[in-house]
Amino acid sequence: MTQVSNSVDVPSMGRRQFMNLLTFGTVTGVALGVLYPVVNYFIPPSAGGGGGGVTAKDALGNDIIVSTYLTTHLAGDRTLAQGLKGDPTYLVVQNDGTIANYGVNAVCTHLGCVVPWNASENKFMCPCHGSQYDETGKVVRGPAPRSLALAHADLENDRISFTKWTEEDFRTGEDPWWA
Ligand code: FES
Repeated sequence: MTQVSNSVDVPSMGRRQFMNLLTFGTVTGVALGVLYPVVNYFIPPSAGGGGGGVTAKDALGNDIIVSTYLTTHLAGDRTLAQGLKGDPTYLVVQNDGTIANYGVNAVCTHLGCVVPWNASENKFMCPCHGSQYDETGKVVRGPAPRSLALAHADLENDRISFTKWTEEDFRTGEDPWWA
């Protein structure tokens, strides 16, 4: 008798749990669906997510403070910062001592080596297979097939905010290959 009642009880428990799960899932799904736009509303755009900027960071992962940075990084300087998606990205100090409004992604368009800046040659020169890029990252010698990618680098609260560059590549007049 016990065995029979168990064999009846177990599937019925299973069915109840399944129904509970289904109800819970439906309620949770509806609740999340309702809450998503509400929560989204309260998250400021600068907090990240869709289209927000990424603050340039130094090698230690600290925000680069522009006023301090420019005391040691003089005109012509190109130093790597952590950029979009963590890509190594050069900040460019212009002749007037300000930071250019574009950053140069250091990932070689040939096979992905990080390309060092060579100040005496005034070029980015890839040690892997000899590709060269001018001071703006425009390719001037292969085998790299394309120029280095760009990112917008805008001054915000004494920091640099990187955002995607989706407009025309000012060096070539073409659509950006990386967008
Ligand atoms: Fe830079 Fe090949 S990876 S030239």
